[in-house]
Amino acid sequence: MSNNLSLAITEFGGPEVLNPVNRSIPSPSEEQVLIQVKAAGVNPIDAKTRAGLGWAAAHNKDKLPWIPGYDVSGIVVANGTNESKFDVGDRVAGMIGFPTDGGGYSQYVVADAGRLSTVPPSVPMVDAAAVPLAGLTAWQALEHAKLARDERILILAGAGGVGHLAVQLAVRTGAQVYATASPDNHAFLHQLDATPIDYHQIHWATSNGEFDVLIDLVGGDTGIEALACLKTGGRVVTVPTNTQDTITSAAAERGLKAISMLVEPNTWQTQRLLDMLDQGELKVDIAAVYPLEQGTQAHKALESGHTRGKRVLEMPSS
Ligand SMILES: NC(=O)c1ccc[n+]([C@@H]2O[C@H](COP(=O)([O-])OP(=O)(O)OC[C@H]3O[C@@H](n4cnc5c(N)ncnc54)[C@H](OP(=O)(O)O)[C@@H]3O)[C@@H](O)[C@H]2O)c1
Repeated sequence: MSNNLSLAITEFGGPEVLNPVNRSIPSPSEEQVLIQVKAAGVNPIDAKTRAGLGWAAAHNKDKLPWIPGYDVSGIVVANGTNESKFDVGDRVAGMIGFPTDGGGYSQYVVADAGRLSTVPPSVPMVDAAAVPLAGLTAWQALEHAKLARDERILILAGAGGVGHLAVQLAVRTGAQVYATASPDNHAFLHQLDATPIDYHQIHWATSNGEFDVLIDLVGGDTGIEALACLKTGGRVVTVPTNTQDTITSAAAERGLKAISMLVEPNTWQTQRLLDMLDQGELKVDIAAVYPLEQGTQAHKALESGHTRGKRVLEMPSS
């Protein structure tokens, strides 16, 4: 059957290289389920890989076409022969095909059942698709930082996809949470109980080392300069992979503890994040929802670098 609309790239390049393709619906292997995808989250790694940057692009360069998408939510429509975790009709979400395969920008995908969590009935599929990769990154960054109650934490890019979830999780630990953002996002950060800082106005060199923890979601020169905000012995977790080595070296020269991380799929943490959405303990801000066919516009908007919250693709119903 060939009625599985997907967005694929056949060459690396700008957002316009994302094009619709019709593929056959895959069959789940023994431990997998077939998901009718309702929504797919859009993440910076999708756009970087599409542009030919990073290790996922290096891995896929001789295997194009490649279908982006690591975050999906949807309905189980078939089980593999050894799969009993989910029933047909169950609502599921999770990170799939990470770190190299992706595949989520599709009407149907197969995924290991062990990588999926249950979407509570109250949680919209768009929200469920927005949370896994960004939410797990936020959770695991704070774990790496060993953030403790009453510590002062600064989160760079606090209004973005990972940032706004990291802010909320940090607030829940009882830490004093500060976050950088443009002035347009300051009211948003106040609503999340963080103190906003306008990064256009910061002079890091004169910063007086008042923070225990820095979560760097920007990298590059900004990540290096922001190290000045840390106290002696402070900890930085640097998340953008392309500049992790330079930032950890710069931190080590200053006697700071530096951790670079790659998010790991974690079904228990994903379930907890979805349950927190259900309980109103966590909110995911949806900047925009696009029909699958408008993936190009979603990538263009993401690459503007000023997304608040998350962008999500919605699948056409079959
Ligand atoms: N290592 C991993 O496992 C991993 C996992 C997830 C993400 N990442 C990486 O982490 C980074 C953040 O991901 P994301 O999904 O949160 O990205 P995102 O949603 O695209 O981030 C957008 C935010 O970045 C802010 N921003 C842009 N330039 C800034 C600057 N100079 N200083 C402070 N804020 C700035 C914008 O703030 P304003 O609009 O307020 O200006 C906007 O809210 C990306 O590089 C991504 O690839 C890595």
